[in-house]
Amino acid sequence: MRRLGILISGRGSNFAAIADSIDRGRLDAEIAVVISNHADAPGLVVAHNRGLRAIALPSLGLDREVYDRQLISELRQANVELVCLAGYLRILSGRFIREFPQRILNIHPSLLPAFPGLDAQHQAVAHGVKFSGCTVHFVDEGLDSGPIIKQAAVPVLDEDTAETLASRIIKEEHRIYSEAIALVLSGRYRIDGRRVIASEQL
Ligand code: GRF
Repeated sequence: MRRLGILISGRGSNFAAIADSIDRGRLDAEIAVVISNHADAPGLVVAHNRGLRAIALPSLGLDREVYDRQLISELRQANVELVCLAGYLRILSGRFIREFPQRILNIHPSLLPAFPGLDAQHQAVAHGVKFSGCTVHFVDEGLDSGPIIKQAAVPVLDEDTAETLASRIIKEEHRIYSEAIALVLSGRYRIDGRRVIASEQL
């Protein structure tokens, strides 16, 4: 089935990279629906222009569980197998996470567990680390805390700002998100505690 449900809040460049991987035959999957909790997210226009089902489901002022029930219903209607958070700036309820056990992925612009939460690239520059990067992980009930599927590292240069570091990291994000999705869809991995072990390495 391999149907993806993608949740966004803004630009949607990770979503577009996933769509490109599918179009180029590098990822055997189908984007069943793209949902944004911000009606004006540029990523929704991108989804629409690509002929994908794109839904604005505004979350402003809604109770978390009430909103997440609407989200679950849209994702179930679209029959999605895997939920991919791609710049989705809203914390999910436990209810949502339990609805899709180990079937929700997120991408975060740091080498977790360093710099969870907002402005990860700014946090990395401010802390003075020499390397940062990005992480694709399963979503659990903590903040950016689930088992790590893939990471990629980039150097942090002396002259970097949060913006220049972000532009180096995003290239790696676009590469590893599709790779992580492919691994999870293949089922060729196991989770041992916090460790996600790909079968190729067994
Ligand atoms: C990315 O840096 C991602 O890691 C973070 O939010 C940003 C979303 O960018 N979670 P985009 O909307 O995919 O362009």
